Amino acid sequence: MNALPPVTNTDDIRYLGRVLGDVIREMGGERLFEATEVIRSASVDRHRGGGPPVDHHLDALSLDETLDFVRGFMLFSMLANLAEDRQGVAAEEGADVASALQKLAGEGVDHDQVCALLDHALIAPVLTAHPTEVRRKSMIDHRNRIAALMALRDAGAEETSAGDRIDEAIMRQVALLWQTRVLRRERLYVTDEVETALSYLRDVFLPVIPALYQRWDRAMGRRLPAFLKPGSWIGGDRDGNPYVTADSLRTALSKASAAALGYYLDELHALGTELSISSDHATIDEAVIALAEASGDTGASRSDEPYRRALSGIYARLAATYQKLVGTPPPRPAARVAEPYPDPAALRADLVTLARPLSEGAGGLLSSSGAIGRLIRAVEVFGFHLATLDLRQNSAVHERVVAELLKNAGVCDDYLALDEAERVAMLNRELASARGLTSRFITYSEETTKELEIVAAVAEAHATYGPASIRQYIVSMCQSVSDLLEVHLLLKEAGLYVPGDPPRAAVMAVPLFETIGDLEAAPTIMRAWFALPEVAAIARRRGHQEVMIGYSDSNKDGGYLTSGWQLSKASTALKPVFEAAGVGMQLFHGRGGAVGRGGGSAFAAIRAQPPGTVQGRIRITEQGEVIAGKYGTRESAITNLEAMTSATLLASLSPAPLSNTENETFAAAMDTLSDTAFHAYRDLVYGTEGFNAFFRQMTPIAEISGLKIGSRPASRKKSSRIEDLRAIPWVFSWAQARVMLPGWYGVGHALAAFQDKALLADMAEGWPLFGAMLANMEMVLAKSDMGIAERYAGLVEDEKLGARIFGRIRDDWQQTCDGLLEVTGQSRLLEKHPALDASIRLRLPYIEPLNLLQIELMRRHRAGEDDPRIAEGILLSINAIATALRNSG
Ligand code: PGA
Repeated sequence: MNALPPVTNTDDIRYLGRVLGDVIREMGGERLFEATEVIRSASVDRHRGGGPPVDHHLDALSLDETLDFVRGFMLFSMLANLAEDRQGVAAEEGADVASALQKLAGEGVDHDQVCALLDHALIAPVLTAHPTEVRRKSMIDHRNRIAALMALRDAGAEETSAGDRIDEAIMRQVALLWQTRVLRRERLYVTDEVETALSYLRDVFLPVIPALYQRWDRAMGRRLPAFLKPGSWIGGDRDGNPYVTADSLRTALSKASAAALGYYLDELHALGTELSISSDHATIDEAVIALAEASGDTGASRSDEPYRRALSGIYARLAATYQKLVGTPPPRPAARVAEPYPDPAALRADLVTLARPLSEGAGGLLSSSGAIGRLIRAVEVFGFHLATLDLRQNSAVHERVVAELLKNAGVCDDYLALDEAERVAMLNRELASARGLTSRFITYSEETTKELEIVAAVAEAHATYGPASIRQYIVSMCQSVSDLLEVHLLLKEAGLYVPGDPPRAAVMAVPLFETIGDLEAAPTIMRAWFALPEVAAIARRRGHQEVMIGYSDSNKDGGYLTSGWQLSKASTALKPVFEAAGVGMQLFHGRGGAVGRGGGSAFAAIRAQPPGTVQGRIRITEQGEVIAGKYGTRESAITNLEAMTSATLLASLSPAPLSNTENETFAAAMDTLSDTAFHAYRDLVYGTEGFNAFFRQMTPIAEISGLKIGSRPASRKKSSRIEDLRAIPWVFSWAQARVMLPGWYGVGHALAAFQDKALLADMAEGWPLFGAMLANMEMVLAKSDMGIAERYAGLVEDEKLGARIFGRIRDDWQQTCDGLLEVTGQSRLLEKHPALDASIRLRLPYIEPLNLLQIELMRRHRAGEDDPRIAEGILLSINAIATALRNSG
């Protein structure tokens, strides 16, 4: 789904489609061009007026032509997405900080209140390596070049700054796309994922965020604290990914540091050329003179240029910092040897020394809000580490590791046999003791060794890059307080948890609640967590505690509606627990791009958070294809960061949308709806005999792993149970088969069984949470297609099983559409959202032929045909369908 409702930019789509057509004719040949055109127009006719299926045209394609055809349609979709993204980024109304401030002012919230909130705020998009991006980096790079050229074309330019004609340059890029391999040959390594994330952090976040602050400082009429900071999981998220090690962590941190420091060095260099102020023509501040004197720059030509001399001193110190942190000299080494900076604050202090007199003197004409102001801001936001890197591991791994440590130390023979109370007591005893558990004379299992190496690497990182480099340690499948205390115990082995009164924890243990049961238990677990005096002391001193809530796994566990409702309920129920403990709450939303994984407009999603649960602190994962969509260009990054920030301000400071009575009535209704939806969903997915076989045969789940789009395996465990399958391939494969079950299943039952339809309509209209749920579901329904899905169901070997389960899904789909239309008062899907409707309608004719080809290729593959072009065709079709559907993983 699109993050934002797209605006159909038909002129651009037509233009790019024509360019692609010319390229296909030129490079793929007239026959391929003709075949593509015939299928395209037959499919368009069919979608407009219900013409005959296009099968016979597809049957006429040879295998080689099939592969080329699929590539052509994939590229068309990619170019259509590009055109849409260029328009769509501006489409969400009011999703910027200036509008939010205006709205708040209208609601009686003044700038002082906004500033008070921002004083302790944190807004963090956190980049993760969740494998849903099907495009290779080379393809995305070409795409971005075309986007930049299109922007020039819009501005009326005929030539690029290098002198190329714009139309020719676009044609050349599209031709290169045509000749670029779509599929990955090699599996993806963690280092590749680190590099990809870095390219966004370095090329987009670094320059964009300081500029955004300047805009916001102006809007607020004062300098705001640094509250928007990016994060990353890549190199630290080990959950189910055996390839992430202590080395991955080191590599990620060192590369990130090199990027941040390299950027500062470049900026310093540029400042040095700019700040040519001569003492002959200006009065120079004493502190600046002192910095110039200390710089060691004695060049005669600069003797009257104190700013340049001071900057050359700062440059030398920062270059030495680079050498110390990264291990190599920077690309442009310094002229002198100097002391490295001990921390970012020291670098910032020097920059402020230079900036202050610029703003204060000369009537503020040389205000420090220019390049030096942006550099100061960058240092505040990115430090020496660029993005805070989180750790994540599964609670089951910690349990095993802790059990092994306790056993080897002679403390407890069988930790795993203890009940929760005994575990907590044992861990508390150990945490209070000054002695450690590990010994270098013991050989530990591979798993334990790896986990110990990780915490040791964290301690190293804190010493090298500072404590902001790693702040959170997330425990997935967290179900108890002991799951969190186990993290403290591991941290203690590396000196990162220090017993005492009060104790200190240099990294925060963060629970990830991600099943329906765990979300329900979250308030009880957190109450018990804060009931531990040491924990409460640590959390109070820090001021806040983070809780992560998982959208995908809760959806896979309990279905769309129940997941959405339980996430919201858990947040609401956690609020008083935090208030009672006197600790600020920071929710971390683990959501993906597809609606079945919490996707949809982030602006709407943040605003739909329950009252009082945001309070200026929020972290949100940004994953897979969403990253390129939102942060692929500086313009789109600005739009999306504005949206995230403005939504956070509104969610924190706007009056609650519902009265208490409405709240209670709506919540009670939602409980009923959720209960029905949950049972319908569980009954289908986990209670229907043969469902697993049906799912595995109907969808391309088995083929998806061949895409090589991520470094981690598709299942957490070696098992074929749906419970153990990761949420991404689950959602991804349902999207391919056009069922998109995780985005709607169960809702139809719930709406149909609910008697008070007027109440449902009120909820849809007046409750942002329910409104957003329905809007996202509507998009999913519009992109699903039961006619095509039925053809996939034909792949199920046991025909009766296929027909029986599919019949149920189709009826439930119809019931869901009917229910939605009734509640929203529409006669057809997307009737009230013409722009989105047009965008989806434009795509559908391109997707159906891809689906039909995919089904045929899967049939041949499964029948044992071993022509490698068949397997390749399946992968290409998966790639093409994912591209055309957008955010389907
Ligand atoms: P996970 O993420 O499988 O890494 O826990 C869930 C998801 O985002 O799908």
